[in-house]
Amino acid sequence: MTTRITAAGFDRELSDEQLMAAYAWDDSAVPTRRPFFRFNFVASADGAAALDGRSGGLGDGADHRVFELLRQTADVILVGAGTVRAEGYSGELLAPAGQLWRAGRGMTSHPGLAIVSGSLDLDPDSALFREAPVRPLLLTVAAAPAERRTALAGVADVVVAGERTVEPEQAARVLAGRGFHRVLCEGGPQLFGSFQAAGLVDELCLTVSPLLTAGTAPRITAGTPEIAPHRLNLVHVLRGGDTLLLRYADGGAAGRN
Ligand SMILES: NC(=O)c1ccc[n+]([C@@H]2O[C@H](COP(=O)([O-])OP(=O)(O)OC[C@H]3O[C@@H](n4cnc5c(N)ncnc54)[C@H](OP(=O)(O)O)[C@@H]3O)[C@@H](O)[C@H]2O)c1
Repeated sequence: MTTRITAAGFDRELSDEQLMAAYAWDDSAVPTRRPFFRFNFVASADGAAALDGRSGGLGDGADHRVFELLRQTADVILVGAGTVRAEGYSGELLAPAGQLWRAGRGMTSHPGLAIVSGSLDLDPDSALFREAPVRPLLLTVAAAPAERRTALAGVADVVVAGERTVEPEQAARVLAGRGFHRVLCEGGPQLFGSFQAAGLVDELCLTVSPLLTAGTAPRITAGTPEIAPHRLNLVHVLRGGDTLLLRYADGGAAGRN
């Protein structure tokens, strides 16, 4: 069946509660053995995951509202070091209202922050660590330079989760061991690709931005051609002006025809 989604179908502004309900974590789908991995990305209409090297220029108010809301309800934010370096992660992870919302529900004021890096090319004196509201978790590899591990151990919990690359299954065990069950992964493409390859993408929240960018920006997922395609089941389509907010659930491996 093919149906039409019109502006008339989106004529009422969703309250924060309604928006939150639309993005409620599907606890029935949360695997008991491992955390639930929800990925959140924004892409231009022509598939670019960045504009001038960052994602900020792709999002608008509707995207930021959902971005904040997803953070508010997550146990931990998982992010690749490339994204941390490109986007300049630092400081508060949530606005005061979001912190209050969490505190009122017996949650920590901020979600945790877990950063995936093989090289550990991160500055321990940077604002990322100096201003972190929670002590970050660094998921790294056994092959990471020992001096970098030592330098970063003063400002973060450094945990090995793979030999030469961080293995998503091992990362999942580390996160679960720390009580992180609802994992919001904010990218980027390489990290997303490695989780897709491991079959550990439970959900994708994708904002489609009404922009054509051309250029050479990456798509939201990157990896080798051997990674099997995955089906996505559409959960909802929301609209904020010309921006589409899509929520997909994992639909399992798809064949190549
Ligand atoms: N549109 C969006 O929603 C969105 C979201 C996020 C990022 N982005 C954009 O994406 C670009 C960055 O792309 P990216 O692919 O470099 O991002 P990324 O996946 O965050 O970063 C790649 C880096 O993260 C580490 N990493 C990721 N997966 C790993 C694994 N399995 N094992 C070990 N290390 C791993 C490595 O860090 P080391 O080099 O330290 O070893 C790797 O070089 C930026 O332009 C950013 O703005 C867009």
